[in-house]
Amino acid sequence: MCGIVGILGNKPVAQRLIDGLKRLEYRGYDSAGIATLESGLLHVCRAQGKLVALQSAFDSSPIIGNLGIGHTRWATHGVPSEVNAHPHVSSKVAVVHNGIIENYAHLKEALIKKGHAFVSQTDTEVVTHTITDYLNQGLSPFDAFKASLKDFHGAYALAILIKDTPDTLFVARRGSPLVVGFGDGETYIGSDALVLAPWTKQLCYLEEGDYAILTPEKAMFYNEYGQSVDRPIKTISINADAVTKGGYDHFMLKEIFEQPTAVKETVESLIDPVSERLKLPVDVDWNAITKITMVACGTSYFSTAVAKYWFEMIAKLPVEVDIASEFRYRESPLPKGGAALFISQSGETIDTLEAMKQAKEMDQTTIVVVNVPESSMDRLADYSFHTKAGPEIGVASTKAFTCQLAVLATLCLDAAIKRGVLSDVEAKEYAQQLLNLPNEIYGILQKESDYQQVAETLKPARDALYLGRGTSFPIAMEGALKLKEISYIHAEGYAAGEMKHGPIALIDQLMPVIVLAPFDKWMVKTLSNLQEVIARGGIAICFTDRIGREHIQKDQIPTQIVEMPMTHLMTAPILYAVPMQLLSYYTALLRGTDVDQPRNLAKSVTVE
Ligand code: M6R
Repeated sequence: MCGIVGILGNKPVAQRLIDGLKRLEYRGYDSAGIATLESGLLHVCRAQGKLVALQSAFDSSPIIGNLGIGHTRWATHGVPSEVNAHPHVSSKVAVVHNGIIENYAHLKEALIKKGHAFVSQTDTEVVTHTITDYLNQGLSPFDAFKASLKDFHGAYALAILIKDTPDTLFVARRGSPLVVGFGDGETYIGSDALVLAPWTKQLCYLEEGDYAILTPEKAMFYNEYGQSVDRPIKTISINADAVTKGGYDHFMLKEIFEQPTAVKETVESLIDPVSERLKLPVDVDWNAITKITMVACGTSYFSTAVAKYWFEMIAKLPVEVDIASEFRYRESPLPKGGAALFISQSGETIDTLEAMKQAKEMDQTTIVVVNVPESSMDRLADYSFHTKAGPEIGVASTKAFTCQLAVLATLCLDAAIKRGVLSDVEAKEYAQQLLNLPNEIYGILQKESDYQQVAETLKPARDALYLGRGTSFPIAMEGALKLKEISYIHAEGYAAGEMKHGPIALIDQLMPVIVLAPFDKWMVKTLSNLQEVIARGGIAICFTDRIGREHIQKDQIPTQIVEMPMTHLMTAPILYAVPMQLLSYYTALLRGTDVDQPRNLAKSVTVE
């Protein structure tokens, strides 16, 4: 949430800051702003709303300078408005911030008593006034910056311009990510590697509690105890083209259509396509593990919910799954020496990251499945497995999800083989199915008109119900989440067998019911639940395969069918996720909502 960028340049930075913010807009789009420091003067340009508004404010009143900071906001404290937009500026200081200063009310009260006048409702403005206050007391800019950090409780990535220090940027990190990049006579900062991608590949990540002073030529890093430290510079290559729509109308559609390639790269990074044998980058001792606790948020949580079925049914390993924000405060006693597995596209989601830290404190072996290399979770986990989805910009997660499932399926095979519960022949069969996934996904993507037709049914609905059993249950929940977040139709994903315990009361002509029924051990029961919907006058659309169609026709169930390919235990949830994505996409298009930047949401959730 919120993206920050900074450039210490040898040429004007303002337009480049706005260009950088375009690559960060997925982190928040309530307001945006930039500030520059030039000849001892601070210049600011801010606007409410998306970046186009900032661009037009800048075009009509450009600001100058070779040193500057920028921010795109996801509102926490204070409504989206120009006055609450960052940078927050005093006569001496300009600040951009990602995170929450939790003790801001207390600090604000004390600063107001000292005569500071606040103009915004944000927590961030206390940072500006705290530093200004220390400067007023006669502290040097560096000492004022350092002293202020001790006052702030909560999470922050901060970038600060101080009027009397030309060519210098002060930055700090606690709880929110921050990366420094080194170019030719220029230095950059950003919330992630993607924002810096067109400028440099030479990156250095601040560790938790670090702060730094940057000039165009160098960076000096300090740890949380104020000791000068070296932080390694890594060469990180990210394709900046990922931040273009590449001819598609929306990032989400582009990312849905990238799935055959993304899943192929992910699967083939873990399974040799020739020998069809696993080739995992790290060796997890699954025999030493008696239970796995899997923790994540949102769509990533639904991958854990699918993986639970796989690990328990195939690897015979008990799994508990939990939502990170609940896990953290549940005080769940974890077995000594157990394993905790975390899933995250961004690797920065604060709830999941904090849950991982807690699991480490509880002596768990931590494993992460993550899409962003060098993200906080990637660096913190004992074992990391990377999804090869590439940058995901659309707020609704699509390709990251199917790649997460591909990694989890492979980890499950690894566990089952090592635990001696899967024969070589069975392992090879599963491996072949996973290697064939890209072709199957490609085939599903070609049936766009089927999903467009179902979207017409969903378009006028106020509510929708998604039903599935077994591994289709989490996909029902994922389908419902996709629909909610981009079309604003209220939707619930339910275990099909649970419908009769309550939600069945909702069935009527106005609420479409999406039923997921691949041929598996649950299919016949799911089709009975479909009959229950029809018997009560409901409208149902059933995603099933050839065998499901035959059952439906034999039983003369009057339902719309979308025919899927025949699937297996491991491939069904991955393949059925794809039409759920397209269904929500086309429904959102018909309803005219903002597909890539749905209201109130942000891609990377770095506040609790
Ligand atoms: O980056 P993460 O995978 O940790 O993010 C978790 C959720 O915030 C994310 O999946 C969210 O639910 C998506 N908007 C769903 O499409």
